[in-house]
Amino acid sequence: MKNFSSILLAWYDRNKRDLPWRHTKDPYLIWLSEIILQQTRVSQGLSYYMRFSKRFPTPLALAQALEDEVLKYWQGLGYYSRARNLHAAAKSMKGVFPTSYEGVRGLKGVGDYTAAAICSIGYQMPYAVVDGNVYRVLARIFALTDAIDSTRGKKVFAALAQQLLDKRRPGDYNQAIMDFGAMVCTPAAPLCTDCPFAGNCKALADGCVDKLPVKMQKTKISARYFHYIYVRQGKNTWLHKRGAGDIWQNLYEPLLIESSSSGEDWQHGARYRTLLGRQKAVVRVALVKHILSHRVIYADLWEVKLPPTHPVAEDCISVPAAEVNRYAVSRLVQKLWEKAGLL
Ligand code: ADE
Repeated sequence: MKNFSSILLAWYDRNKRDLPWRHTKDPYLIWLSEIILQQTRVSQGLSYYMRFSKRFPTPLALAQALEDEVLKYWQGLGYYSRARNLHAAAKSMKGVFPTSYEGVRGLKGVGDYTAAAICSIGYQMPYAVVDGNVYRVLARIFALTDAIDSTRGKKVFAALAQQLLDKRRPGDYNQAIMDFGAMVCTPAAPLCTDCPFAGNCKALADGCVDKLPVKMQKTKISARYFHYIYVRQGKNTWLHKRGAGDIWQNLYEPLLIESSSSGEDWQHGARYRTLLGRQKAVVRVALVKHILSHRVIYADLWEVKLPPTHPVAEDCISVPAAEVNRYAVSRLVQKLWEKAGLL
């Protein structure tokens, strides 16, 4: 199709969403917006972007902040490694955002997608983005049946995306195809009757819009069972700061005991006895089902009352229960706090 990009840009000029990061060419702010948008939909990302960019308006402001505060501003978005990478990258740039593609691509947490987005939107460099929207739009319009998670498929889509890119307006073009995927060529119930490509779309002609894009692997989902202990010791409760090694690194949480079921067997384990002794009054105050990309976590919050003399667990701090909201927690713990009425 010869005029793909002109049809797309004409659609964009009429229908684009008015978003705050579209009023700036500051690559730092564009980077911020893109990292946030990898984590959430535009509608939810907006408020995070506004707060984040206000508190950390420059690379220097972000670099000088403490990680706890950065994580607090990220709270609720999930995948906190993104916030940690953002912070580490800001520190590495010494106040100056990189100006070359290689420099941008070399930032911690920046992959091909983010580098292309920043360089095209911020610097008008000719790099096509490839994200889930792009896969879907191209797979349908060109009826491409290569699996998007196969090596060959990735190559085919990346090459076509680069070939279609409008080199005069690369930033607009990239945002156009993402908006188009989010607003018209949606995963379920796409708006084919209103689509400017209706006359050109191979999948529409072949009646296979709902079969594309093709994916090879079905994601396997496994379950875990978390039992969080909401300790009540006078006015205080206990919080544990998670260590290195997972997506919740450096976030706070109540004392955690994991078990292989959602029953009450966890109360009979040695860890419970060691930390909490033989407390009888254990009350479930919240229950949450938390869905991550490869996992479902069933999490309980159990209230346990302890006498003031009971020693605080070694890896926990004792803080006023009324102040738990000051600590950066995972989305899961936040949901438990909310359900238990503690926020
Ligand atoms: N999704 C992620 N980044 C985007 C952008 N700049 N425009 C539209 N959708 C997006």
